[in-house]
Amino acid sequence: MDHVDFQFHEGEILSIVGASGSGKTTLAKVILASSKPSSGSIEYLGAPRVLRTFADRRRYWSHVQAIFQDPFASFNQFHRVERMLMDCIRMLDLHPSKDECRVKMKDACSFVNLKFDELYNKYPFELSGGQMQRMMIARIS
Ligand SMILES: Nc1ncnc2c1ncn2[C@@H]1O[C@H](COP(=O)(O)OP(=O)(O)OP(=O)(O)O)[C@@H](O)[C@H]1O
Ligand SMILES: [Mg+2]
Repeated sequence: MDHVDFQFHEGEILSIVGASGSGKTTLAKVILASSKPSSGSIEYLGAPRVLRTFADRRRYWSHVQAIFQDPFASFNQFHRVERMLMDCIRMLDLHPSKDECRVKMKDACSFVNLKFDELYNKYPFELSGGQMQRMMIARIS
């Protein structure tokens, strides 16, 4: 994909539309910092995005995350809900206390109208489609 140039602001929704193979997924990966752009630059919060260290990326990912279309394909089916949410917390905070984690996991679930206490011990395939989709959103909240 060449000559992509756009900007958007908080609260706006931007759709990237294009033919198959035109580079939409590649662009998304570059925005998510899972691929490096071969050229060009990305500005975030009005300044060039600098992601030199893992700590930089960690900070960036606390603001910029993906909600994937197919939660079934996105979750590790061998990890229970609690482990999946813990992995997300550890990604953003290296040394969270047990109590902090519990509060965060409960908050994330209630944000999407799910009850952590009822679901923490379930595997993704034991959730309904709607629960799994909402868990996908809980993961980034
Ligand atoms: N890992 C990769 N290594 C090399 N080339 C790749 C890789 N991933 C994608 N490409 C190529 O980059 C181009 C853009 O692919 P991309 O997946 O971004 O397209 P897309 O717009 O998301 O397409 P679709 O609508 O089919 O999902 C394609 O020509 C593809 O073959
Ligand atoms: Mg694609």
